Amino acid sequence: MPRIVYIGSEDRREIDAEEGQSVMRAAILNGVDGIVGECGGQAMCATCHVFVERVEGELPEIGEDEDEMLDCTADPRRENSRLGCQLSAGEDFAELEVRLPSSQV
Ligand code: FES
Repeated sequence: MPRIVYIGSEDRREIDAEEGQSVMRAAILNGVDGIVGECGGQAMCATCHVFVERVEGELPEIGEDEDEMLDCTADPRRENSRLGCQLSAGEDFAELEVRLPSSQV
């Protein structure tokens, strides 16, 4: 089962995600603070912004919509910034560790 590790300012949560579940959806279903997913995963809100710390697998290229939204994040974009709604457990990674931006936690 794919695993996602969420690192907040004061805690760390490890979630076994369903195959095909996005990093955003798995966070919401498991009550991880700091990911809102306001637009429901349409790459239109950036409230699922995460910093990828470690990946086991190969993440997809950043798409055009994601790229535009990453320029509108509450915390400044970094080289390892991604939208959690655009990363699917199992399909894109076997294990992923993400840090939550400080403005979201
Ligand atoms: S949930 Fe809105 S951009 Fe990811």
